[in-house]
Amino acid sequence: MMSVRAAESADIAPLAQLWYDAWQDAHAQIVPAELARHRTLENFRQRLEAGLPRVRVTGPVGAPSGFCVVKGDELDQIFVARSARGQGVAAALIDDAEARIVAAGFDTGWLACAIGNARAARFYEKRGWRRAGNMVARLEIPTGVFDLEVWRYEKALRVCGKIEQTD
Ligand SMILES: CC(C)(COP(=O)(O)OP(=O)(O)OC[C@H]1O[C@@H](n2cnc3c(N)ncnc32)[C@H](O)[C@@H]1OP(=O)(O)O)[C@@H](O)C(=O)NCCC(=O)NCCS
Repeated sequence: MMSVRAAESADIAPLAQLWYDAWQDAHAQIVPAELARHRTLENFRQRLEAGLPRVRVTGPVGAPSGFCVVKGDELDQIFVARSARGQGVAAALIDDAEARIVAAGFDTGWLACAIGNARAARFYEKRGWRRAGNMVARLEIPTGVFDLEVWRYEKALRVCGKIEQTD
């Protein structure tokens, strides 16, 4: 089983590059140009620096292969380097994220996926997440908030399998 660890300062620069490249792979063709314009390398670096305690990573310090971020009951980010896709890195990250959502006391997790991000959608469905419908995501941009219609995915994470019937 691939291990998932807390991010360190030495991960920030390579993670910003990984996030930038992977964001371009998945979103550049499918989201409005106005949003893409704000997704610069420097913007990703700043967001990683500000949220570092929440960032979970695979791979060696200074050479991460992927990362995820959980906020409450939301799987906020999951990005894997192109060279590490299709190898179980994303599965290790989403398992870690799901465990964090449960540890924070939630029964159900949710995430927003850009409409048309077919590879991510396929991955989430393989991991037991179900598309619950569309919603408007309020995305942070340097000038405020960018509203984007997205697919909302949900997964029931806590199964009460150990409750015994007494009668
Ligand atoms: C989304 C992501 C984390 C998934 O990790 P991964 O290692 O690629 O996941 P897997 O390879 O296990 O699963 C992807 C599935 O999509 C399939 N797939 C690949 N390309 C595809 C495409 N263009 N269209 C549809 N499905 C595709 C794969 O075959 C695989 O399904 P399978 O196991 O049934 O064959 C990774 O692809 C990634 O970082 N993408 C870019 C960033 C991104 O989109 N992040 C999510 C933001 S919501």
